[in-house]
Parts: sequence; structure tokens; C-alpha cells
Amino acid sequence: MKVLVVGTGGREHALAWRLKQSPSVKEVLCPGGNPGIERVARCPRLSGNGHADILRLARDERPDLVVIGPEAPLAEGLGNTLRQAGYPVFGPDRDGAMIESSKAFAKDVMRAAGVPTAEAESFSDAAKAKGYARSLGLPVVVKADGLAAGKGVTVATEWEQVDAAIDENLAGRRFGASSERILVEEFMEGEEASVFGLCDGDTVYPLVPAQDFKRACDGGRGPNTGGMGAYAPVPAMTEELFTAAFSEVLRPTLAEMAARGITYRGVLYAGLMLTGDGPRVVEFNCRFGDPETQVILPLLEGDFGEILLACAEGRLRPMTMAASPAEAKSAPAGIATSPGHCVTVVLASGGYPGSYSTGFPISGLEEAEKTDNAIVFHAGTARGDAGDVVTAGGRVLSCTAWDRTLARAVEKAYDLADRVDFEGKMFRRDIAANALRKGN
Ligand code: AMP
Ligand code: GLY
Repeated sequence: MKVLVVGTGGREHALAWRLKQSPSVKEVLCPGGNPGIERVARCPRLSGNGHADILRLARDERPDLVVIGPEAPLAEGLGNTLRQAGYPVFGPDRDGAMIESSKAFAKDVMRAAGVPTAEAESFSDAAKAKGYARSLGLPVVVKADGLAAGKGVTVATEWEQVDAAIDENLAGRRFGASSERILVEEFMEGEEASVFGLCDGDTVYPLVPAQDFKRACDGGRGPNTGGMGAYAPVPAMTEELFTAAFSEVLRPTLAEMAARGITYRGVLYAGLMLTGDGPRVVEFNCRFGDPETQVILPLLEGDFGEILLACAEGRLRPMTMAASPAEAKSAPAGIATSPGHCVTVVLASGGYPGSYSTGFPISGLEEAEKTDNAIVFHAGTARGDAGDVVTAGGRVLSCTAWDRTLARAVEKAYDLADRVDFEGKMFRRDIAANALRKGN
């Protein structure tokens, strides 16, 4: 089949790369692309960035499956547009995407489905928000209601910080329309893990859990970013927690959406806090994580194209034959995870997540590509005037390696991160260090 991938970051490079290896997939198309994606996909230029341009491309190319990577087009209804035009789409419609695009909606679904999460209320009035924060006590979490590229959350440990975050969002409109409403939330303690449930509207199948590193600097310091690295699987996610994540979080959430008339086909991404009382939801996203996808897909076995198409066409159950992860282990078909470990280290532009410069030549890519069981996924890269590869975004590359042990995978990923270079290169030195310290 021919698969159209929408989006041009590191996650989409990983999706295109994994799709291209699927026996069922003949060709991957990724409009716009980037120099890494070009190696596995055809990347036609579009005249514009709108949904009409994607629809026109689909009409010309007639893809058998469309995979939408980022949240913004999903929240804007690209899934609706393409489905209405008759294409199978992996990625929810606008109503399902609200699980990410409105934190208040997500809380409402969780409350109705009895899904464990932090106590929270949503506000558009600053005084009421401050009053509620005081009833929760410190630390307290303030979140913009809408999409804010992973940067809309303040975990505040002092009242001054709480009030400033509330005012910046509501009065200051820090994230535009996304911060017209805010959520004030109870602080949860524990280790975080992301679980991606593949959904076909009715069945959900959980992939191997991953952990990402959201802060810019080592030791979890500095501002929140889109993610500076990740590893999978997550030793802190025990079998028991994983089963709970499936049966107490993913399954009831999908069922609640179905009960509301939402046919959710795509990834339901649960960002979880692994607390003493079990997994509790930090946030839901309506798509694959970035950079978690870069560590999950190298470990995933089976025909990825077929798996995503089965989700898009509402026939995942026969493929998994599983109602629970325990049953999945003995499932005859389809989706399995290799026993190895995978790590990715993000190379970012100096200054990210604040302002940064672009256009710097990148060296060492060809040499790095020679490493076995490793790949450098491209996120923010472009072709320079001389045809060379240059930096073009905040997160530039995602140096990924997998191996039988986590220690070896970490070593290989850092070897890549050291060898690939550009002016201002910035990366964290402690990706997966927490898991290694625990002796994995
Ligand atoms: P989010 O964008 O909702 O994933 O939040 C970004 C990060 O803020 C999360 O990965 C957590 O580290 C932290 N965070 C968000 N909500 C909470 C909470 N209720 N308790 C503790 N930490 C949180
Ligand atoms: N890595 C976090 C996210 O994709 O939202």
C-alpha cells in the first residue's frame, strides 16, 4: 500500500522509517519532509500548509492509509476532512482530539469514566483560581487549557509563582486562546511513564511503555521542552502497573469516548504518574509522543502498516485477539515487542526552548549512520543552499540506538550524540540514567 504521513518532525521520521520496513507498504509519502525523511519517503512540496493542500495531494496520490503525526492538524479536524473524502485515517477526528486540545474536556471524560487522575478545576476567573489553589495547598500545578506545545504547565512551589502563572495565562494570555481557561491541579508525586494505546474505536492495544525527559537540563532542571530524550521499556512500570494502566486508564477512557459517540481511531497517549496508589493520569495526548515514538518503533515487531490500517478501519481486535495485556502475550498475530532496550538523545539548538538560531551545517551524519541498530532521526533539519544538511528547528536530531541491554543502548546513543555536531548543539547527558542506576 501507499501511506501518506502528515508532519515533518522526528516522530514522523520514525513513523515513515518504520512504515517503509513493513512488508505491506510499497511507498511512503511525506509532504514537505526533511532531509532524513527523504531517505525513506517521497516528499512532494505543497503549495500551502492548509488542509485543502493535503486533500489535493491525497486526491492526486490516492493513498491507502493516511497517518497524521502532530496534534495541531488533528485538533483542527484534518482527520474529519480526509475521512469524509473516503481515506482510511490513523488519527482521531476533531472531537476525539479534544482529549488533548482541551484539558477540561479530558478531565470531564476521566471523571465520568472513573479514571485515576489529579484533583483539578478549570477557571477563567483569576481570583477563583487562586482561591482553589489555596484549598489544594503547595505544590500546585497550573495549566493552560489548550495546546501549548508541551510548555503550558507550571509546577509551582511558592504562592507567588502560583499567582504569577495564573495571571500570565488569564490576564497575560501567555498562550493566546489556549490560555483563556486554565486548570489548577493537585500535584502528584512519582515517576512518569508514557503508554500509547493503539485504538480502532472499540479495541485498545497498549504498546511498550516509554519515559521521556521533558526538562531542558540534566537532573530535571530548566524549563519544560517538547522532550529531550526517551527510553523504553520503563523498569518502573511493573507488570502490575502496566495492567492497571490498561484496565483502569486506557480501556475505560476509550469506552467513555465511544459512549459519547466518539469513534477514536489512532493513538491514545496516556502520560502517567506512577504513584504509590497506582498509575494516575497527568495528561492525555491524541497522537504518538515525540521523542517516545523514536524509541518504541525500533522495538515494535510485526507489519506496522497493517497494524495502523487495522486501527483506521476498525478491525484491530482480530489482529490482537487480546482483551488484556496478559492475553496479548499469547496472541497469535500482529503486534509484539522485541526484548531489547531503545534510547534516544535529542540534539537541540542552543537556546531551545527559548529563542535560537538556525541554518548551521550539521557534520558527522553519514559516519553515524554506519552504526548497527542505530539511526539518527531528523526533527528540525533542512537542506542548505549547497545541498548540505543544516539546522532548522529547536529540536534538531534524535540520536537513537537499541541493543539487548539498556547500558549498551545508552552508550551507543551517546556515541552518536557526541559524533554528530553543529554550532550551539545542546543535549542532556542523563537520558535513562535513572533506570541505569537501578541496575537495568
Ligand atoms: P503536561 O504537559 O500536562 O504533560 O505536563 C508537563 C509536565 O509537568 C509533566 O510531564 C509533569 O512532569 C508535570 N506535571 C503536570 N501535571 C502534574 C501534576 N498534577 N503533578 C505533578 N507533576 C505534573
Ligand atoms: N514527549 C511528549 C509529547 O510528545 O507530548
